[in-house]
Amino acid sequence: MLKLCGVQFLLVIHSAMCQYLGDLHVTGPLKDMNFSVPEGGGVRFIYQFTSEVPAVSFRVTGETDGIIDIVPRTGILYLNGSLDWETRPVHRLQVESLDQKGNIVKGPYTVTIYVEDINDNPPQFDQIKYTGVVRQNSRPGKPFMYVHATDRDDPTTPHAQLTYSILHHFPNPYAEMLFQINNVTGAISPSKMGSHYLDPQKQDTFTLVVTVKDMAGMTMNAFTSSADVIITVKESLWKAPPIIHIQENSTQVHPVNISQVQSNEPDVIYDLFEREKLRRLPFSVDQNGVIYVTEPLDREEKDTYDFFVVTKDKQGELVDKPLHVSVIVEDINDNPPVCQQPLTVIEVQENEGGGSNIGTLLATDMDEENTLNSRLQFKIASQVPDAPASNLFFIQQDTGVLHLTSRSLNKRIASNYSLKVLVTDAVFQTICDVQIHVIDINDQIPIFEISDYHHVNVAENIPVGTVILEIQATDRDEPATGSSYIIYQMKEGDPNNTFIIETDPETNRGFVKINKALDFEAAPVYNLVINATNPEPLVPGVQYNSSSLAIFKVFVSNVDEPPVFHKTVYNKEVSEDVPVNTLIITVEAYDPEGDTVRYSLEGDVRKWLRIDSTTGQVYTASTLDREQQEMYTVEVVASELSNAAQKSKTTLILHLSDVNDNPPHLAMDYPPFFCHPLSGGERAFIQAADADEQWYYPKFTFSLPDDMNTRNNWEISKVNGTHAYLSPKHVDFEEKVYNVPVIINDNGKPPLEMKVNLEVNICKCSSEKSCFIEVQRQHFWPSPGQAIGILIGVLLVIGLILGTVFFRMKHKQKNEKKRHQKDVRDKSELNRLA
Ligand SMILES: *[C@@H]1O[C@H](CO)[C@@H](O)[C@H](O)[C@H]1NC(C)=O
Ligand SMILES: *[C@@H]1O[C@H](CO)[C@@H](O)[C@H](O)[C@H]1NC(C)=O
Ligand SMILES: *[C@@H]1O[C@H](CO)[C@@H](O)[C@H](O)[C@H]1NC(C)=O
Ligand SMILES: *[C@@H]1O[C@H](CO)[C@@H](O)[C@H](O)[C@H]1NC(C)=O
Ligand SMILES: *[C@@H]1O[C@H](CO)[C@@H](O)[C@H](O)[C@H]1NC(C)=O
Ligand SMILES: *[C@@H]1O[C@H](CO)[C@@H](O)[C@H](O)[C@H]1NC(C)=O
Ligand SMILES: *[C@@H]1O[C@H](CO)[C@@H](O)[C@H](O)[C@H]1NC(C)=O
Ligand SMILES: *[C@@H]1O[C@H](CO)[C@@H](O)[C@H](O)[C@H]1NC(C)=O
Ligand SMILES: *[C@@H]1O[C@H](CO)[C@@H](O)[C@H](O)[C@H]1NC(C)=O
Ligand SMILES: *[C@@H]1O[C@H](CO)[C@@H](O)[C@H](O)[C@H]1NC(C)=O
Repeated sequence: MLKLCGVQFLLVIHSAMCQYLGDLHVTGPLKDMNFSVPEGGGVRFIYQFTSEVPAVSFRVTGETDGIIDIVPRTGILYLNGSLDWETRPVHRLQVESLDQKGNIVKGPYTVTIYVEDINDNPPQFDQIKYTGVVRQNSRPGKPFMYVHATDRDDPTTPHAQLTYSILHHFPNPYAEMLFQINNVTGAISPSKMGSHYLDPQKQDTFTLVVTVKDMAGMTMNAFTSSADVIITVKESLWKAPPIIHIQENSTQVHPVNISQVQSNEPDVIYDLFEREKLRRLPFSVDQNGVIYVTEPLDREEKDTYDFFVVTKDKQGELVDKPLHVSVIVEDINDNPPVCQQPLTVIEVQENEGGGSNIGTLLATDMDEENTLNSRLQFKIASQVPDAPASNLFFIQQDTGVLHLTSRSLNKRIASNYSLKVLVTDAVFQTICDVQIHVIDINDQIPIFEISDYHHVNVAENIPVGTVILEIQATDRDEPATGSSYIIYQMKEGDPNNTFIIETDPETNRGFVKINKALDFEAAPVYNLVINATNPEPLVPGVQYNSSSLAIFKVFVSNVDEPPVFHKTVYNKEVSEDVPVNTLIITVEAYDPEGDTVRYSLEGDVRKWLRIDSTTGQVYTASTLDREQQEMYTVEVVASELSNAAQKSKTTLILHLSDVNDNPPHLAMDYPPFFCHPLSGGERAFIQAADADEQWYYPKFTFSLPDDMNTRNNWEISKVNGTHAYLSPKHVDFEEKVYNVPVIINDNGKPPLEMKVNLEVNICKCSSEKSCFIEVQRQHFWPSPGQAIGILIGVLLVIGLILGTVFFRMKHKQKNEKKRHQKDVRDKSELNRLA
């Protein structure tokens, strides 16, 4: 007889127990069986095998570890001590029934005991102290060291699910920590703050106390361990070089090393990145960070370069923040002076006095402005003919201004001088040609052939450019010089430059042309006064008089013109929800001749509008919809009542402003899924969209309806305005499609809400990426919920009494309600059978 317990009063409750145990199937015939038993917990009953004649006893062999045994006579399989998951998670046993003589009647049958892990091992760091080195300005989030801890509990349960955190940070000079730890991987990296503020000059050592918790840190009862992390901050190697100066047009062999940079990280790939989109960047970087200029530069083409050196890892991710490199191309004198014109022609009147300024020779140099490289100097090299003297002209050395030296020129001696002017910079010299024409003095004024050109009649729609009159004046000065060339201008009567006069240089004949469109309604008559002048000044004592003037009238005749709209385009913003027959805008046109105007619409393809043909009032004809078309363009036609062919058009653009009239909806290509069995901590993105216009950014909120079933199983957490996470609240999901109602609110004005049914597939996964073909899975041991179902309440009471009397239970087990109940049940059974 088993002596598991000797306390007699317990028998009082045995009879009560029997009723329930009948339902529990804790007895049965010998066959292959699987059991699941929590570790720890000590002595307990597992199962009772019933014997069938001629069997009289039972025997168990296999992985009993001296703890699992069977009472030979009663067939009670029990534990005489605690199983330990960490020692052996599965015990494989063979059970046989024997007859009186000890021969096997049935069996051996395989009985497997699966030990259920309980959280009885704290996580442990591999080291009690870790050291690491971080460079100043390292990228935020880029790990420079790892801490690692292990937990002996079952890795498939939360008991061994570890989460890391930083407990203390010494010193902690800023509002935020300078370091961060990845709670899953234990990777330690600089925070955004750290990337910015770490500086060995200020503080070169930090001590972090990092902790690791099991149970994913989700419960107060999680075990915690900690370790010290000593971090040394080193100066950043990754520094922008000072501004680089490169002399242009270099004769060195290229590429030429111009600078070198070094990453804080090993094994990075250096690259250059240009902000300006150049045809090509004449720089390169090699895998040691040496920057080269690849070819001679030309300052006159581009005098500065700005680009960035970047470092990337093997995956192409940026490692350090980009470094700015500035290159200034330095000038050398590599450009000769250039004459602005191949031949500079200057006219000089015979009476021009000695010493007069007669003109300027213009020359340029492309080398850098305001440096000696572009300083130009002028010198007359030759004068042909050299009569009556060889030095008739003088040029200002630094400006190129030409003067007569001391005397006036005389046409009879030479009418035409050729000068070669030497223009030099410090290195180069260029010859520029100058021709000086000696011309007659301008002592004659242009005289019009007639002083009154009377008038012309023109229609107001005469094309611009039409010649309406030819005029003629004559000048008796030397032909083909500035003294005789005639410039005609409208001296009076044309304030808006409606006319223009061009001169034929050969004949001095003038052509009066239309320069701008005429408008009878604005100006039906022009009384014009035309003057005729020379480009060269008149000699003193001679003046233009009325013989250099002519008068002329232009009569503009009216033409029947189409109506004119006040605006060439009408823009109007309209709310998309305005009722039908709302007045939107009034367009107005007038007829220049005063005729009545009629309006109509063209291009109203959506039949959204109608127009009052007499008033030009535009109304909505049906409901508008911004989601169909945000900018709606139609043409308004205005025509004359008496002559409908006289018409003109204007554009009416409706800008439909949004009204929140579309509910939000889900916007995902695939519904979310989770891999079965769930391990905890899973989550999946859900995303919403809305046809309405989103001001600046969408801001949906996601929530679950207020029903217990949904709220107990699912949780939604916000990511941003379009995304949220859906996560299962526990791991006890079956492999099937769950319907999860989700409420999406678009937070518009007014807000619109949509309840959508999200089909969440809990499936076996082939890989992390996708659902495996769904197969009905076999449950090989009863889940605690199914086995004890309704009995929990009653048994809990009984178990509590038994538990306190007989077994010392580990403190933390008390919190594990379900397991606790199962323990209780087993203990009670064992007592009954004793
Ligand atoms: C016990 O579990 C094993 C392994 O999962 C399974 O192959 C076997 O069929 C189960 N036996 C019984 C009786 O459920
Ligand atoms: C239980 O184990 C102890 C020793 O660990 C032993 O003395 C005792 O006899 C065992 N009881 C049964 C019923 O196997
Ligand atoms: C771990 O970090 C992630 C992301 O930073 C966070 O969402 C999650 O809540 C953290 N888990 C725990 C247990 O702190
Ligand atoms: C390139 O030039 C820099 C200075 O400009 C120098 O520090 C570096 O050593 C040179 N690198 C090589 C490989 O020559
Ligand atoms: C470089 O200089 C030489 C003379 O020094 C000149 O002939 C050449 O045009 C220059 N090249 C450029 C691109 O400026
Ligand atoms: C000036 O003289 C040159 C030759 O010396 C001649 O070719 C040119 O036609 C002359 N020009 C005038 C305007 O006389
Ligand atoms: C000729 O008319 C133009 C344009 O009105 C005016 O600027 C100029 O002074 C007039 N010349 C003379 C000499 O009246
Ligand atoms: C000149 O233009 C002004 C302003 O556009 C206008 O008022 C005036 O009538 C025009 N005068 C003539 C003669 O066209
Ligand atoms: C204008 O001056 C010229 C000489 O320059 C003279 O022949 C002509 O008669 C003058 N005309 C009038 C109207 O005075
Ligand atoms: C919201 O988060 C998702 C996932 O991180 C991202 O793809 C999306 O661009 C984010 N949207 C906004 C507006 O930030």
